[in-house]
Amino acid sequence: MDKFIIDGGRRLSGSIRAQSAKNSVLPLLAASVLTEKQVTIREVPEIADVSCMAQILRELGAGVRFRGGDVTIDSSNASCHEISSSLTKELRSSVFMLGSLLTRFRRAEIAYPGGCDIGLRPIDLHLSALRRLGVEIGESDGRICCKCDVLRGAEIALDFPSVGATENIMLAAVKAEGRTTLQGAAKEPEIVDLQNFLNAMGAKVRGAGTDLIEIEGVTALRGVTYLPIKDRIEAGTYLIACAICGGETEVVGVEAENIRLLLHKLRENGCKIHTKNDKIRIESSGRLKCNRRIETMPFPGFPTDLQAQATALNSGAEGGALIVENLFETRYKYVPELRKMGADIEVKGRNAFVRGVPRLHGASLVAGDLRGGAALVLAALGAEGTSEVLDLSHVDRGYADLQGKLKSLGARIRRVRV
Ligand code: UD1
Repeated sequence: MDKFIIDGGRRLSGSIRAQSAKNSVLPLLAASVLTEKQVTIREVPEIADVSCMAQILRELGAGVRFRGGDVTIDSSNASCHEISSSLTKELRSSVFMLGSLLTRFRRAEIAYPGGCDIGLRPIDLHLSALRRLGVEIGESDGRICCKCDVLRGAEIALDFPSVGATENIMLAAVKAEGRTTLQGAAKEPEIVDLQNFLNAMGAKVRGAGTDLIEIEGVTALRGVTYLPIKDRIEAGTYLIACAICGGETEVVGVEAENIRLLLHKLRENGCKIHTKNDKIRIESSGRLKCNRRIETMPFPGFPTDLQAQATALNSGAEGGALIVENLFETRYKYVPELRKMGADIEVKGRNAFVRGVPRLHGASLVAGDLRGGAALVLAALGAEGTSEVLDLSHVDRGYADLQGKLKSLGARIRRVRV
């Protein structure tokens, strides 16, 4: 198992290009089996979640070839509709396979999905929507077994705008008989990306990015070569890193519109932000003011995937901040680690009360989940002295070459084998 050793207190400067969005690439990989034709997804990030999804596709019998940063999937020989429990449990996004396997084979079997341990993460919304499309669902030994004779378009309403459920419904409805309307859909930019991808394959999907998505079932889908949108969460993580450390940094590739609320919060912290086309530039003195309140919400609200990083920033800023986590029940597991660095944070249910301290100090830290782990790296970059961040398996799930990119900005960070 690897760890990072980080010497804090270096200013960051330079320019980095955001990777393709993890949360786009994973559903697009799942969508690749909707057609027997070849699908190429361009510039896929080298992250563990992508490797895991590739493993799942191979298990189904698809050919998966990585070349020059792109991945090509040929599922013409895929015949299996079952995913082994070990792979499903490793990756929450394996749940998207339900929608695409049902479209392809009218059958799908997976275990209850895993992913970061940040809350209950039920999939009831996915399952009840699939039932509306005519799917019969049974359960045995912790596995979900789905089957149908035909998928039929239906009117579906989500009680909560779940990102995964919205995507799963799109995947199950693209070739369903007739028309599906989805009310209360999630509006994340990655959902718009999935719509664009499906339409490039010949699907008829419209409305993504609003809370009403309409899908007219088609009979066939063709192969496609597609470049996904860039990762707003990765970009946001680097912007917060620069805010904490001080310096001038540019992140290229992400539409400012997709992280508008983060940019607003960084301005509140005292940073200067300039945006032009797909470039976001941040200038920070490193002496920051706390945000009064940050509350996570579905898009376009403040992303839950940037909550931990924002809390790390506020821990070393002047004043106090209230952080409210509305999406996941147990997303403050990184807080005891920040406390080891001298952070003053009290957690009560969904709320974290942060009292900023003048400077965090280096410590030995354990990364327990993906975004919490990133937050610890950021806190260590801004802290006085040396820190180690242990167990990089979670961080590796979502950040390609985190240490390389931070190093290119001037950070002192090393990855070593333990
Ligand atoms: C996706 C993202 C994840 C992000 C999250 C919220 C991917 C691969 N992952 O996860 O990075 O943190 O959106 O923006 O895109 N819920 C239910 N029942 C369901 C489904 C969800 O109660 O059937 C609840 C969840 O427990 C959670 C909330 O809805 O409290 C949001 O979950 P959801 O939007 O589905 O997140 P994911 O798709 O898992």
